[in-house]
Amino acid sequence: MPYQQPSLVRLPVMEEPRGDLAIIEGGVHIPFAIGRVYYIYKIPGGAARGGHAHRTLQQLVVALAGSFDVHIDNGTSTVTYHLDRAHTGLLIPPMHWRTLDSFTEGSVCLVVASDGYDEADYIRDPDEFSREAGGRTAP
Ligand code: TYD
Repeated sequence: MPYQQPSLVRLPVMEEPRGDLAIIEGGVHIPFAIGRVYYIYKIPGGAARGGHAHRTLQQLVVALAGSFDVHIDNGTSTVTYHLDRAHTGLLIPPMHWRTLDSFTEGSVCLVVASDGYDEADYIRDPDEFSREAGGRTAP
């Protein structure tokens, strides 16, 4: 059963004079096996990413460089997380609508995902999300 709430995860870091090394091990530091890693970079000012939910995919989002905001809507309310540390990730459960914006210049957004790419897992229509999220919590 995947976790149900978004949460911030502090990743272990090996701090050395040579630099810091942060670690993400699937099933150890995050509650899922890693199926895919991707990252977004060269993000122009004013851009927004995301704007969708996933039916089953679990993700960890990390600001590897710079900072940005992640707005998470669970179908009822929205919470905004400001990510600005390479050692802290935001866990996003399935069925949460996410929008990312306010990227600083040179920022890099790392996403660690539980599965490979599957367009059928996306909900890109806000009305469809409301229907499916509402249906999930209905008595
Ligand atoms: P999308 O997930 O909509 O981007 P974001 O949520 O970060 O704004 O993906 C953008 C495009 O890239 C879309 O056409 C799907 C494609 N894509 C892949 O082919 N494979 C992937 O692993 C991802 C994440 C996206």
